[in-house]
Order: sequence, then C-alpha cells, then structure tokens
Amino acid sequence: MIPPGLRRLPAVLVVDDELRSLEALRRTLEEDFEVFCASGADAGLEILEREQSTAPVRVVLCDQRMPGTTGVAFLREVRQRWPDIVRIILSGYTDAEDIIAGVNEAGIWQYLLKPWQPEQLLLTLQRAAEVWRLQQENQRLSLDLRTAEPVLRRQVDGKQARVKRTFGLESFVRAPGSPLQGVCDLIERIAPFDLSVLISGESGTGKEMVARAIHYESRRAERAFITENCGALPDTLLESELFGYRRGAFTGAVEDRVGLFQQADGGTLFLDEIGETSPAFQVKLLRVLQEGEFRPLGSTRPVTVDVRVIAATNRDLEEEVRAGRFREDLYYRLATIPVHVPALRERPMDLAFLARQLLAAVAVPLGRPQAEFTAEALACIAAYRWPGNVRELQNEIQRMVVLASGDRLGAELLSRRVLCSPVGETQAAELAWLEGLAGGLKERMDQLELQVVKEAMIRHRWNKSRAARELGLSRVGLRAKLARFGLDPEPQA
Ligand SMILES: Nc1ncnc2c1ncn2[C@@H]1O[C@H](COP(=O)(O)OP(=O)(O)OP(=O)(O)O)[C@@H](O)[C@H]1O
Ligand SMILES: [Mg+2]
Repeated sequence: MIPPGLRRLPAVLVVDDELRSLEALRRTLEEDFEVFCASGADAGLEILEREQSTAPVRVVLCDQRMPGTTGVAFLREVRQRWPDIVRIILSGYTDAEDIIAGVNEAGIWQYLLKPWQPEQLLLTLQRAAEVWRLQQENQRLSLDLRTAEPVLRRQVDGKQARVKRTFGLESFVRAPGSPLQGVCDLIERIAPFDLSVLISGESGTGKEMVARAIHYESRRAERAFITENCGALPDTLLESELFGYRRGAFTGAVEDRVGLFQQADGGTLFLDEIGETSPAFQVKLLRVLQEGEFRPLGSTRPVTVDVRVIAATNRDLEEEVRAGRFREDLYYRLATIPVHVPALRERPMDLAFLARQLLAAVAVPLGRPQAEFTAEALACIAAYRWPGNVRELQNEIQRMVVLASGDRLGAELLSRRVLCSPVGETQAAELAWLEGLAGGLKERMDQLELQVVKEAMIRHRWNKSRAARELGLSRVGLRAKLARFGLDPEPQA
C-alpha cells in the first residue's frame, strides 16, 4: 500500500489559451489534483496520449473559445478516444448553441461560467473525479458480475448434484440381487411422471427414503420436498397445516398461514401414515387431489397448486379399504402407482452392506471413524430377523459404537434381543415356530439344523472351535454348514 503522503492525486487536464487564466486554474486545483496544463488542443491531446497509460486523466476542463478550434471540438475528440474521461467546458459566454453542441456532440458533463469562484470550481472538479471513480467501479462490478454468474451457476449445480447423491437412488444401500433393486428400478421409471405414488412397507423399511428419491429423481428436484406426518395430528390441526388459514378463521389464528400444499407448489408433498387419517379428512383430501385446488380455512378464494402427492403407510391399505376404514376412491386416487418396500428379513443379503454403510455414517460423528465389526458381530447381525427393519439396525449400530471401548465392534456389544433371538423362550413359541416350518421333512430338518447351528454359534459368541466341539463337528465341517446356511461370518461382498 502506498503511504498517504506519496499517494497519487487524481489527474486533471486543464486547457486554456490564456496563460494567466491557466496559471490561476492550476493554483486553485493543485492541492487536490495532479494538474496537467495545455495551452491548446494539440498540446492537450499530446498530454493525454502520454499520460493515459500511467496517470489516467479523470477530468478535462477546457476553455470554449480558443484560436483555431473550440472546446467542444476538442472534447468531441477526447470523448471518441477516451470515453471514460469526464468533460467540463469553461466559457465566458452563455451561448445556447455552444451549450447544446457541447452536450450533444462532446457529451460534456458540466458547463462552467467565467468568472469562476475557486471553491465552486474545486467542488465541481472533485465531484467530476468522483463520477469517474464511480464509473470505473461500476464497470469493474459489471465485469465481476458477468464472471460471477458462471461461478454461482457452478456452485448451485454442484450442490444440486450433492443433494441428489444424498437423497437420490444412489443413496440406497443394496446388495446385488437384492429385492430392493426392483424398487429402485421402479422409482427410476416412475419418477419423471407426475403420478401419485402410494408406498407401503413395514415400519423402518425406508418408505420416506423412497419418497425422497422419487422427488429428487424427478423434474421437481429443484423445488420443495415437504413431509407431513398425518398420523400425528387431529383433523383440524392437520387441515390447517396442509391447507393454511386466514387471519381470524378461528380463535388463535392471529395471522395468515400458508399451508403445506402451497409451500410444496411445484414440488412434492409426502403424506406419511396416510392410513391413520379419519374418514372426514379423507373426503377433503380426495377433493383437493381431484380438483387441484383448495380453500384455506376462512378464505373465500380457492388456491390452485401444482403438487405431486406421495403417500405412505405401514398398514395393509387394501385390507383397510375392505374393512371400510379407508375410502376406496381415495385409495385408488393415491395408489396410481403402488410401491412396496420389502422388509429387511426378506432381503438378508443387504444386511452386511447396510451394517457397514450405517456404521460409516454414525462412526464419524461419534468420533470413531476407524470402527469395524468383528466377523462374529456381522454374523449375529445376519442371523437376526430385524422386526424394526433398517431403523432398528441403525439404532443397534449406534448403540454398539457408543458402548465400544475401542474400534472393534464385537458381538458382545449387541443387545440381548439381537443375540438371543429367535430361539423361542417358551415351548409354545417353539411349537408355533415348528408349525411354521414349510416343505417336506428334509427341508424342515434343514431349517431346524440352521437354527441349532445358529443358536450354538451365538451362545459361543461365534467361536467356531467351541461350537464345533459342542456339536460334534470338525471346524471344517462347521464352516461348511455355516457357508451352506448363509451364516458365513464374512458375507461375500
Ligand atoms: N436401503 C437403505 N440404504 C441406506 N439407508 C437406509 C435404507 N433404507 C432405510 N435407510 C435408513 O433407515 C432409516 C429409516 O428409513 P425411513 O425413515 O425412510 O423409513 P420409514 O419406512 O419411513 O420408517 P417409518 O415407518 O418408521 O416412518 C432412515 O434413516 C434411512 O435413511
Ligand atoms: Mg417414515
């Protein structure tokens, strides 16, 4: 940075054929400006040519009446060659013709009259120099903005790609050959079309994840994805949340509220636990879906919105329809495309993949980035039925990471529920389980054998030597059985 004493003053050029006048102008200005003086147009142009690359002249102050030329003619040339310079005419005559020519041809900024007052002149030149600075700043900013636009666009695109990676199909952990692959294929096919989707599946299977993926794989991805849990609210609250209300619509409505349908305009509205809604609410929802418009509570004007509705339920909604608890017409309106998310026990091949992925996701925030499952722990995870599905698995893993004292997550960290199931606790449960076995004797014995081996393995904390000894098998023989039953502690990735 240049020290203030050495900082260059803004440069101005003064052109006048009268030497005394030139001198007076210089004396008035030199404290605030770097003043270049010229006694005629040619000398003036020479100075501008010479100085323009080093000390750009910001303002030219020029006498109008000079021998051989006029101030206007000179400034016209200055304007052509250095359009940024701010131009001022100084004249003893108020000739209207001159002024008009000055403005039209030379684009002068001000017309000053002689005799001039020093303070007045100084002020005018300071303002002119500021005009020049603002012009430059404006140009620089325009240029910055022009280059900023692609930068901003790139940032937005980058973020959109990240959001898609986080919520789109890529986020679904699944093993090759998993039934979840079929769900992903279906999502990919239906996402682009604005049809209602009804997602069914047990609690914790990933229904909300499916809804999000449909949104982020659709052309609505850049607009809002809004979730409403319909099971959590009584009718009146649910309606005011979804449709909004006008001020004064009811006691407590102190200001207007925009409903979720409106907030989701252009995007997707996810209605979770749709099976829990009352018949009265179902009628209202059906009307909105059919007409594409609704009236906020207390408003007389209908609101039209463009929203894709995705609903989810962990009930068997067809059964609910048959039992008369869910309106058939609403069911068909919502279930234009039904998507069923299979339970985790129906896709055991996903377990090892999911467990590792969920571990990676929780281990870092919990300060255990190196955490790993032992083979035994993975085998126990593979053997459990996971009635709470992915959410239960997620919680279990979180617990293990918190309880672990090192980076190895062993089977002993699993909760008793996981370790001890599904070995029946009562005879009745065991009998029921036996009755549930399917196939001929050979198939049933196989299933029985699987459970016996699994139970022994769990009890011996997946120590193969001890389990083999107890079962009267060799280690190799036990390993072969584990492989046959898919209980291999190291599932093939
Ligand atoms: N295939 C998967 N890959 C990765 N994470 C998954 C997968 N399936 C589910 N999850 C995760 O499991 C958790 C539960 O999923 P989600 O909330 O979508 O389930 P849900 O069916 O809506 O559950 P609920 O019925 O309890 O509302 C979420 O954290 C989700 O990210
Ligand atoms: Mg959910």
